[in-house]
Amino acid sequence: MRVLVTGGAGFIGSNTVFALLAAGHQVLVIDDLSTGRSDNLNPRAEFRRLDILDDEVPSLVADFAPEAIVHLAAQASVAASVSDPERDRAVNAEGTRRIAAAGRAAGARRIISASSAAVYGEPEHIPLTETARKSPASPYGASKLEAEALLAEELAGTGTDFASFRFANVYGPRQDATGEGGVVAIFSDRMRRNEPPVIFGDGTQTRDFIYVGDVVAALLAAIDAPAPLAKPGPDGPAYNISTGQRTSVNQLIMSMRAASRYFGPVETLPPREGDILHSALDPSKAYDVFGWRANVELDTGLAMTWRWFAAQG
Ligand SMILES: NC(=O)c1ccc[n+]([C@@H]2O[C@H](COP(=O)([O-])OP(=O)(O)OC[C@H]3O[C@@H](n4cnc5c(N)ncnc54)[C@H](O)[C@@H]3O)[C@@H](O)[C@H]2O)c1
Repeated sequence: MRVLVTGGAGFIGSNTVFALLAAGHQVLVIDDLSTGRSDNLNPRAEFRRLDILDDEVPSLVADFAPEAIVHLAAQASVAASVSDPERDRAVNAEGTRRIAAAGRAAGARRIISASSAAVYGEPEHIPLTETARKSPASPYGASKLEAEALLAEELAGTGTDFASFRFANVYGPRQDATGEGGVVAIFSDRMRRNEPPVIFGDGTQTRDFIYVGDVVAALLAAIDAPAPLAKPGPDGPAYNISTGQRTSVNQLIMSMRAASRYFGPVETLPPREGDILHSALDPSKAYDVFGWRANVELDTGLAMTWRWFAAQG
């Protein structure tokens, strides 16, 4: 199948591209390399360095004529969304609308677009199901929620099936450990340098950590799913891509010590304002509709992640 991957030079994108190529698909990557890295690019995929908002994108998509699109390109930093909400909204909301329109015009059969647990904000009940209250706590969460609505607006009732995947906290090889990278990447990088990881608060806060290999498996299962993914109703095309498990940062540190053999100190700082205390997303809808569930245990995923970070020299 011909598959367009936007954001294919990023963390989740590059892991997705490798898996698509290994499964025999033909891949075009569109990425502006704003946070992605050229080292992450697979030479067997076609690559165009372009902003998804560039006017050239629709004709490029039309020429490639993808059967499926995995849309991962985004302004993915919460902090950057606060400092420049206009850019965040342009890339995440308008960018998604344009990719959807370009895909439909090019005859794509299905578009899977990356959304986020950030659309929910502070949870009322855990684990969160797709229909839970949406109360984004950042411009990033709001732009992802708007992107979901625009995707539906462009594609509902057309020949292009679609879904928004609300990823929980994804971790794994090739995650960026600088800036706002995920906590597993940041801790792995600190432990690799024999520097103490820093915990905000008492470490009892919990998150739903999902291994990138499981996320990639969800994307591959979704592009091949025989039944439509865009179910009717407001959250019909939305799917939590998560484990449903809550892991505290303290538990995470313990598992990472086992993987890395780092037994040095851990630093603590006061909790960050606005951080959600507990989060977990119920993934059962994805299983019911297209038969996917996460199957990499946290200890196994952390060990694979550690091996990658340790090999970075
Ligand atoms: N990593 C997570 O835990 C997580 C959680 C929830 C949602 N997501 C979403 O998953 C997707 C992938 O995230 P990631 O963690 O791999 O982040 P990433 O920053 O590694 O990847 C994003 C990629 O998109 C590219 N990009 C950004 N703006 C672009 C633009 N305007 N035009 C073209 N390319 C552009 C970047 O260069 C990068 O390669 C994003 O949509 C993100 O919001 C990630």
